[in-house]
Amino acid sequence: MPTSYTPPSERLWWNEPIERTEILWIVIAFAWCLFMFYYMIAWHWTGKQNLANEAYKITPEAYGKKVQAMVEQYTVRKETEQNIPVVRPPAGSDVYLAGSLWQWRPLLELEKGKSYRLHVSSLDWMHGFSLQPENINLQVLPGYEMVITVTPNKTGTNTVMCNEYCGIGHHTMLGKIYVK
Ligand code: CUA
Repeated sequence: MPTSYTPPSERLWWNEPIERTEILWIVIAFAWCLFMFYYMIAWHWTGKQNLANEAYKITPEAYGKKVQAMVEQYTVRKETEQNIPVVRPPAGSDVYLAGSLWQWRPLLELEKGKSYRLHVSSLDWMHGFSLQPENINLQVLPGYEMVITVTPNKTGTNTVMCNEYCGIGHHTMLGKIYVK
């Protein structure tokens, strides 16, 4: 009887016939893999958390300028110890959010039921955009501008957490999206 510490009696184990139940399991597992793979297309419509985002190439400098232009135009107040601007962009407009070591800038104030084109990018490093409590996740990379169309459906305060480890201040990298 071969055990884990004695070598098998038949060295060429791959020439031995496969047990029928094992074949059955391989077929089931393979069929399930294929099903899950092709179901990705369906999740585009049925999965509430699967985002249909667009992505464009942009330099961090150019993206920083877009953020700054919006901040200068629509800042309504400042918050937090770092004096981060709170921006209230008009409904239907393009909204720019930048991740950097270690903050989300600006904080946003959006209107319930209105649609916005939310742009997200990083100015330095890889960050993760995690919108809580909705649990929407997006990888944020310098050089790429992600765009998602959002229509907030609940009033309240959403937290934007960084969910890609980005260094010593990672856990403090918190942003806010207020919905009024
Ligand atoms: Cu930014 Cu972790």
